[in-house]
Amino acid sequence: MAEKFRIHGGETLRGEVSVGGAKNSVLKLLAASILVKGCTKIYNVPELTDVRIMLQVLADLGAKTDYNREEKSVTVDASDISSITAKYELVSKMRASFTILGALISRCKEAVVALPGGCAIGERRVDFHIKGLESLGAKIKIENGYVHAKAPKLTGTDLYLDIPSVGATENLMLAAVTANGSTRIQNAAQEPEIVDLANFLNAIGADITGAGTSEIVINGVKLENLHSAEYTTIPDRIEAGTFMAAVVATKGKAVIRNVYPAHLTFFNDKLIQMGANIKLAEPTAIEVSARNRLTSINFVTQPYPGFPTDLQAIAMTLLTTANGVGIITESLYENRFMQVPDLRRMGADIHQDRNHAIIKGVKNLEGANVAASDLRAGAALVVAGLMANGDTLVEKLHHIDRGYECFEKKLSALGAKIERVDDDNVSIVPGGNNIGGLL
Ligand code: EPU
Repeated sequence: MAEKFRIHGGETLRGEVSVGGAKNSVLKLLAASILVKGCTKIYNVPELTDVRIMLQVLADLGAKTDYNREEKSVTVDASDISSITAKYELVSKMRASFTILGALISRCKEAVVALPGGCAIGERRVDFHIKGLESLGAKIKIENGYVHAKAPKLTGTDLYLDIPSVGATENLMLAAVTANGSTRIQNAAQEPEIVDLANFLNAIGADITGAGTSEIVINGVKLENLHSAEYTTIPDRIEAGTFMAAVVATKGKAVIRNVYPAHLTFFNDKLIQMGANIKLAEPTAIEVSARNRLTSINFVTQPYPGFPTDLQAIAMTLLTTANGVGIITESLYENRFMQVPDLRRMGADIHQDRNHAIIKGVKNLEGANVAASDLRAGAALVVAGLMANGDTLVEKLHHIDRGYECFEKKLSALGAKIERVDDDNVSIVPGGNNIGGLL
């Protein structure tokens, strides 16, 4: 049966919430763990569908993995890698598994990895990955939807990315770890998740400097010199931003814990421009609150440290009831306004023209039946449900479960009326008694 979130809007969120480990970091750390002919232990690993898929990718290669729920840790024993293939069934489900390409090249000098293809939010090409690997000396053939890479001897060189792609920076960094000589990636992505991957790789014996800037230098080391390590993943800045938005959306007040405020500087600044109050409660906690109707703002999504595309849909939800007109330009993806039709169904006034959206604030959103079309659009609809008058049903929760651990439990702990229901017949009917006795 298809699970749904049933949300009764209008509750003010208050209290404290703790953020988990960064999904977009931990997936890459898991891929990188196969560089060690032995065990690595990664802490602060959220229990997410995407993490499960990556563990399956590693298991298919012959690595042994053990998830410890109490500790929120994963131990990967990659002493023996018996396969070099990441199959379509897994890569097509989760694009991040394409990062195994660089890791396999470093470890095994060859790899067969399915091409991920496009996804709902855009074409999401991998040409920078391929071009960079070829510049390092890999021989690459694309056959039957798979990348076949042979790289018996990679030689460090200067690489330049046309745009600072997160995935390409990661794959090239991974491949260059065991190349001969130095590799310099220019116009590299600067996201905190890139720094986390570089720190993890250095912890297992790699020699990487400059991560977090636009120029990363990887001095190749011998595979035999890479060694076991324990490592803790950084907090998930997008999950943190999502809870901050939910609190602001309901004019609440809460402390968001286990967050690195510096990772959210741009987003925080935009929330403050909208009228929210933000205080650094502790080095790893942010207190966020809002009292009055928010004020509309404009923003353009950009690579880090600019406004994160992964918080664009959620910020759009805030603008739907803000005072004035806001303009959003989505500069990273061709099709990342998938939340717009459902927000309109909830009463939002949004005009979309290609990658621009003009949002005229309305007084209130109204509850409706809506469906998550991707992870972040899904989270945006949940926040919309929390703001709306009446009841909202959010369908297609598998998208949300990819990136938010215990989402409804954490929101409930803040006072939200949200529950997961497992009933195909539940629906929001105008004028009906929608919530029944369940909440
Ligand atoms: N691009 C190319 N060619 C390439 C690589 C990228 O044209 O070879 C284009 C893409 O099509 C896209 C843009 O460059 O339009 C940015 O892509 P990037 O490679 O930076 O993104 P990614 O590595 O595929 C990661 C996150 C995304 C996040 C983006 C941007 C993971 C697993 N995914 O994707 O997160 O939106 O960086 O910050 O790390 C999410 O968590 O919901 C999510 C989609």
